[in-house]
Amino acid sequence: MPTTQKTPTASPVGRDTPRVDGPRKVSGLAQYTSDFHFPGMLYAVPVEATIANGRVLKLDTAAAEKMPGVRAIFHRENIGKIFRSTAGPGFAGICEERRPPFEDDVVRYYGQYIALAVADTFEAAKAAADAVRATYAKDKPNVGTHLEADPDPDVVLTTFDMRARLDSQRGNADAAFTSAPVKLDQTYVTPAETHNPLELHATTAIWDGPTLTLYESSQGVVNLRTVLAQMFGLPNENVRIISRFVGSGFGSKLWPWTHCPLAAAAAQQLGKPVKLVLSRKMMFQSVGHRPRTQQRVRVGATPDGKLVSLQHDYVYQRSMSDAHHEDCGEATPFQYSVPNLRVTFGRAKRNIGATADMRGPGRVTGLYATESAMNELADQLKIDPVRLRVINEPKIDESLGVPFSSRHLLECFELGAEKFGWSKRRPEVGSMKRDGLTLGWGMAGCSWVAARFAAAASMQLRDDGTARVASATQDIGTGMYTVLAQLAAQKTGVPLDKVEVALGDTSLPEGPLSGGSMATESVVPAVFAAADSAIASLLTIAATTPGSPFENRPPTDLAFEDGRVFVKADGAAQGVPFADLLRRANLRLVTGSGRSESTFGNPKPKYSTHSFGCHFVEVTWQPEIARLRVSRVVAVMDAGRIINPLAGRNQIEGAVVMGIGMALFEHTSYDPQTGAPINSNLADYVMTVNADTPPIEVHFLDFPDKEINELGARGIGEIGLAGIAAAITAAVHHATGIRVRELPVKIENLLA
Ligand code: MOS
Repeated sequence: MPTTQKTPTASPVGRDTPRVDGPRKVSGLAQYTSDFHFPGMLYAVPVEATIANGRVLKLDTAAAEKMPGVRAIFHRENIGKIFRSTAGPGFAGICEERRPPFEDDVVRYYGQYIALAVADTFEAAKAAADAVRATYAKDKPNVGTHLEADPDPDVVLTTFDMRARLDSQRGNADAAFTSAPVKLDQTYVTPAETHNPLELHATTAIWDGPTLTLYESSQGVVNLRTVLAQMFGLPNENVRIISRFVGSGFGSKLWPWTHCPLAAAAAQQLGKPVKLVLSRKMMFQSVGHRPRTQQRVRVGATPDGKLVSLQHDYVYQRSMSDAHHEDCGEATPFQYSVPNLRVTFGRAKRNIGATADMRGPGRVTGLYATESAMNELADQLKIDPVRLRVINEPKIDESLGVPFSSRHLLECFELGAEKFGWSKRRPEVGSMKRDGLTLGWGMAGCSWVAARFAAAASMQLRDDGTARVASATQDIGTGMYTVLAQLAAQKTGVPLDKVEVALGDTSLPEGPLSGGSMATESVVPAVFAAADSAIASLLTIAATTPGSPFENRPPTDLAFEDGRVFVKADGAAQGVPFADLLRRANLRLVTGSGRSESTFGNPKPKYSTHSFGCHFVEVTWQPEIARLRVSRVVAVMDAGRIINPLAGRNQIEGAVVMGIGMALFEHTSYDPQTGAPINSNLADYVMTVNADTPPIEVHFLDFPDKEINELGARGIGEIGLAGIAAAITAAVHHATGIRVRELPVKIENLLA
C-alpha cells in the first residue's frame, strides 16, 4: 500500500512521494503547450496529402486564400528556406524525419504535409486547409505487411550512427543449431503501433528579431533546440524551447517532427506568434510509430535445457527516406548464456511515415520474440519455463565479456513465482480451472538498459529557507518534478514543499532527454554536484561573513547537514540554519552548479549495466463465448534503488496496462489502396481501458547499483513493457492450446 510521506525533511529519497506538481495539474494551473496564448497569435493547420506515393502536380490555394480570416497559405513555393539537420556528437541534432517539410514535390506517405493554412482562428485555418485542392500523379503505395529485407549494404545509417547489420556474433550459431538435439525455429510478428499520448503534439512559435522561442510538447528540449537552430541557420543560443508540462509522449515526442519548423517558418514570415496543434488523426500519420517487425528465432538446446545456439534475425519496416533502427536484438546477446549466437537485422521500406521509438523501442519488440521462443522451448522440453531460464542464467555478459554491474534476475523469478503462486501451475493445456473459467498461466523475463546521459543542473539556497533546483530536462508525466525536488531535499534538508523545481526550458543548464528511461538516473549526480557546490559556497560565506557565528573558522572545520551549518567537532545540533547565515551576509541566495558525463553507448565498459525483471500473468478463458481476459499480473523489477516507489510502481502499472494492449489490442492498419492508417482515432485504435485492467502487483528488489550513480538508482519506465506480451501469449497457449505468434492476439485466432 502506498504510504504517504509525513515528515518530508527526513530523507525523502526512497519514500513514497506524491507528485509535487499534482496540485497544479488537478487544479488546471499547469500549462501545457497549447494552453499558452499570446497577443496577436495566429493558428496554423497543415494540409495532409491524401495519397501515400506520388507527386503533387498542382496545388490550388486560390479559394482558401480568399476565405475570411486567412493570413496565408504556405507551400513549397513560398515557405522560404528550411535547411536539413544532421546528428552531432552527444545526442545533438537527432530527428527521425530529416526531410524538411515541403522540400520537394514527392509524397512518400499518407498525411505528409503539403501546405499550411494560417488564419486568425483555428476554425478559419481548418476551413482554409480543407479548401486547398491538390492534384497528384499517383502511384500504388507499398504498405505490405509481409517484410522481406531490402538489399541494403552490410553497414547502414540509422538515427544515431552507422550500424552493421550483423549485430552480434560468437561461436558458430549455424553449425551448433544443425547439430543440436533439440531445435526450435519460429517467426514472431509485432504490428505497427501508434503512440497515443493524451496530449496532442503542439507548437507555438514566436520570433523576436533573430531569436526564436518555441513552446513545444517535447521529451527533449535541448536536442530540439539544436535541430531547430540547424533548420533555420541560427546559433543555438538564438533558439529557446519551453516545455513545462507534457501530457506524455511514449517516445513520439523524443525528437522534433516537421510541424515544428512549419510553425516557426510561418511565424517568421507573418511576424506573429503561430500556434499549431495536431489532430488525433495526424498523430497516426506524421509523428512516428512503432514499426512492424518480423523476427525469426532459432534456438538449439540439449534435452536437459541448456541453450547451445541462438539466432535472432529480424526485419522491420521503415519509411522511404528515414533511418530509425528498431533494435530488436539489443538484449539477445546477454539475456541468457549461450556459446553460439548470431543477431542480424534487415529493413523493408514502406510508404508509411517515419518509424520511431515507442515505449521500450527494440527491446520490447525483441524480447517478445526471444522470450516467446524460450517459453515454446520449455514446453517442447517439458521443463518449467522458470527453470529453463534458471538453467541458462549467465555469469557474465557473454557478448561484452564483462560482468554485470548488478543482475538479480533469478531473485526476480523467485519472488515473482512466490507472489504469484507459480508452484501450483499444472503444465497441461487447459488443465487449470476456477469458477468455471479455464486459467492460463505464463511468465517471461525482461531487461532494460541502464546508463546516464550527460546532465547539468543548478541549485540555489535562498534566504527564506527555500531552495531551487533547475535542469533543462522534462517531466513527461513520469515524475521528474518530484524526483528533482526529492534529490534537492535530500542534499539540502529543505522540505519538499519549499523546493522550487524548474525544468523544460533550454535557458536552464542542459539536462537529459526524457528517453530510454534514463532521465532519473542521469540527473542524480548533476543535482548532487550542484548541491555540493552551493553548500561549499555557503560554508565559505559562513566562515568569512563579519558577525557570523563561524567567522574566522577555516571552512574545512564546517559541515552542512539537514539545512544547517555547524562546526564538525560540535555536531549538527549546534548548527545554524542556512537562511540565517544568508540574511546575516545580506545575500538573497547562493548558487551551485553541477554536471555529469554520459555513460551511454560506451564501447568498452567495465560492466554491463541493465535493469532486469519478470512478469507472471494469469488469463481466464471462456471458450463457450470466446472471452479472454488478463485476470492477474505480478511484476518484479530489479531496477536498483527506487527514488520514489509510489511513482515507480505507477510506471510499472502503466507499462503493464500498455503490455496488455500490446498483446491483445494495439495495432495500426494501413489501407492497401490509399496507404492511410485506417484506425486513426481513439475509437478504432483499441487500447487497454480500465475494464481490461486486472489487479497488478508490483515489487521492486532493492539492490542499489553504484556503477550508475551514487544512489544506485536505475531507470524504471520502459522495462515494465518488456517481456509481458510473451508472458500473456504463453498464458493464452496454456489456457487454449493455441500458439499465437503474431500480435495482437485476436479472438478469431482462438476460434481456429
Ligand atoms: Mo522512450 S520510447 O525512450 O520515450
